[in-house]
Amino acid sequence: MATDVIAPAWLRVPNDANALDARVWPASAHRDDAGELVVGGVAATDLAARYGTPLYVLDEADVRARAAAALEAFGSEARAAGSDAHVYYAGKAFLSAEVARWVVEAGLRIDVASGGELAVALAAGVPAAAIGFHGNNKSDAEIARAVSAGVGSIVLDGRAEVDRVADAAERAGVVQAVRLRVNSGVHAHTHEFLATAHDDQKFGVPLADAPGVVAAIRGRDSLRLLGLHCHIGSQIFDAGGFAESAERLLAVHAELLAGGDVPELNLGGGFGIAYTSADDPTPVDELARGIVAAVAERCAALGIPVPVLAFEPGRSIVGPPGISLYEVGTIKDVPVSGGIRRYVAVDGGMSDNARPALYGADYTVRLASRASDAAPVLVRLAGKHCESGDILVDADYLPGDVRPGDLVAVAATGAYCWALSSNYNLLARPAVVAVTDGEARVIVRGETEADLLARDAGIMEGR
Ligand code: LLP
Repeated sequence: MATDVIAPAWLRVPNDANALDARVWPASAHRDDAGELVVGGVAATDLAARYGTPLYVLDEADVRARAAAALEAFGSEARAAGSDAHVYYAGKAFLSAEVARWVVEAGLRIDVASGGELAVALAAGVPAAAIGFHGNNKSDAEIARAVSAGVGSIVLDGRAEVDRVADAAERAGVVQAVRLRVNSGVHAHTHEFLATAHDDQKFGVPLADAPGVVAAIRGRDSLRLLGLHCHIGSQIFDAGGFAESAERLLAVHAELLAGGDVPELNLGGGFGIAYTSADDPTPVDELARGIVAAVAERCAALGIPVPVLAFEPGRSIVGPPGISLYEVGTIKDVPVSGGIRRYVAVDGGMSDNARPALYGADYTVRLASRASDAAPVLVRLAGKHCESGDILVDADYLPGDVRPGDLVAVAATGAYCWALSSNYNLLARPAVVAVTDGEARVIVRGETEADLLARDAGIMEGR
């Protein structure tokens, strides 16, 4: 096929352009007898008819199962090493009251990174003790709110926050449990990690400074040290970077034990997912085994007990269970050097998924309203924004008879899509619908034109 010349090297022409790779699609995704995509027991055309497009769809049972599997994987490995593990769901990936409750019911805690995320978690009924509060530039109001709500931990991002949080706790008459965020010098992304002595980034303190900051924490009666915290990156496929980072942290952790209790070690989140069939992330139980084994081995070498471990996965809990549904509009075959590129434009775009534009992220697209035997054709799925970088799927294959009015689904959009959404070109944000056991319900209402007008202070009644 002429189009193959312009396809990226990693992309394979599918034997069946209707196939749904189980690693990429929600656990319940399949095609019914008519060939239509069904998620959580609900057909794509039913969802579009009821809620319109674009639409975010979340497989509730898959989110719950992934949350439970993460806790089981890290918990069982940690217990086998004589300790235990806490798993915090990183709410920045996607936070609504329903999702907060699902993950808490699965036994997870929640990591929030702003006053807004804290407010949603509390409003959802998440026990404050199960909340970890993050942020590299927390406001006084955020600190006061977190302390008075009784959050289980605050992750201190630097020396200045020691006194700010200690003072707030003193004023509230409580002892606040805290972690100290450090830079281990390890950065990881997919299969590669890079380890340096120093880090040029805004989060945390250099590992070498940790003992001094911990001494300051221990000097304040209103603070209780839980331990060190580190987050080495996101979309990481194997255990190597975590192991390297943990080993670096444990050397300091052991040093800190000489001065008092250090019950926990938080290794952050960042576990990768498959966005396309070319991605091959390590399953969570294997990751847990690799990471906990490295920790246990280093603790034995240092002659210290294995601390309670904490992790903060976001993407790997909520990413794969989510899809985005769009309706196909304009289709153009554009001559480009080396072939013809078929641009398939849909009714959403970078406002509902900024990740391709922000990070060059790859995604998978399939026909959702029907299956087709037509030969696969390379397509680029574009949005409807006034910007040439408004691309949802840079390259994938759809049946060659794809036409206006078809529904298409983009896989693995549950994390960092709704969370990063905008009103660019004054598009209204789509609704988020949870599907399970053949039932669909809105968990975040979509915006309407009235919502867009409501905040414009220049629009007057009756005009
Ligand atoms: N913990 C901390 C301290 C974090 O900063 C993050 C993500 C996580 C946990 C969760 O990481 P996850 O398991 O979801 O990879 N917007 C980017 C990702 C930014 C991640 C920021 N921090 C994206 O769409 O790829």
